[in-house]
Amino acid sequence: MTPVPPHVRLLVLVFVLSGVSAFKICSYNVEKLSGHKAKNFRIMHTLTRVLSHYDLCLLLDVDSSAVRTLLAKLNRNADRYDDQFRYDTVTATSLDTNHMHHYVYFYRTKTVNVKARHQYQKVQSFTREPLAVQIHSRNTAIRDFILVPLHSEPSKAVQEMDRLYDVFQEVSRKWNNTNVMFLGDFHAGCTYMTRADKKKIRLFRNTSFSWLIGDKVDTTVTDDTTCPYDRIVVHGERFLKNIKPLSGQVVNIGKRFRVRRTLVQEISNHYPLEVILKSSALLLQATPLLALLSVVIAL
Ligand SMILES: *[C@@H]1O[C@H](CO)[C@@H](O)[C@H](O)[C@H]1NC(C)=O
Ligand SMILES: *[C@@H]1O[C@H](CO)[C@@H](O)[C@H](O)[C@H]1NC(C)=O
Repeated sequence: MTPVPPHVRLLVLVFVLSGVSAFKICSYNVEKLSGHKAKNFRIMHTLTRVLSHYDLCLLLDVDSSAVRTLLAKLNRNADRYDDQFRYDTVTATSLDTNHMHHYVYFYRTKTVNVKARHQYQKVQSFTREPLAVQIHSRNTAIRDFILVPLHSEPSKAVQEMDRLYDVFQEVSRKWNNTNVMFLGDFHAGCTYMTRADKKKIRLFRNTSFSWLIGDKVDTTVTDDTTCPYDRIVVHGERFLKNIKPLSGQVVNIGKRFRVRRTLVQEISNHYPLEVILKSSALLLQATPLLALLSVVIAL
């Protein structure tokens, strides 16, 4: 057997380390995951596979029983193999009651520390008031940031998206941190938000906010529609610089996780979104080193 040259071994090591340390966030509208749907083994198994891919994932529209099932399935791996992959959740109300949750965060306890949560409560602002969380992670270059979710009411989508600016002001003051990411199903397109409507939305008007999912993206599964309903937005240059360039995208779970189209459709008419935060690990930022190594290999 030919021995593996040392530079090849090093390259493999670099890839492995960077794979481990990339910090991935997702957002997925799973459309009323409760009752029969939440008892469907193939749906729950696929969702578990998807979730286990992320450090932090926001699910929209899930009941307590489905959250408990998903959490148990996810943690079966942690119990058997490796505690590094243990998950926990943040929900607005207790999981004991059979409550429908608008917003549920699944997060890896090893890489994510949820320091605080805040339920936005200003009356008549939102149909589903955002449940903001303050995150600390040693694995991300940014370290401290805030997530603000939105599952808008379709007929009030423009108003509710505009009000995210009020939530931004409240949480950034409350936690003295302007690294804020907004994510979820905003209904930000097609008949719910026209080009003219964008002028009415402060998160669009104000250039301090960057929309990582563009207006031409299709976040729906069906072929009949091409609508950028789901979005990820970040505030501030600092946060933007700490995001892996162009990593904000729709995840075609059919292709990525090899799931049959009928099953993808059974789960939801939305695809999940993902975004990758730059890692705090030195190796991941050592892109010049990677380039150098590829040259070495080419030689
Ligand atoms: C708020 O954050 C800034 C910088 O992140 C820091 O300099 C300042 O002391 C903080 N203020 C309070 C009241 O914690
Ligand atoms: C845009 O948002 C920032 C928050 O980063 C705020 O300080 C600024 O005043 C806003 N600009 C306008 C024109 O509203």
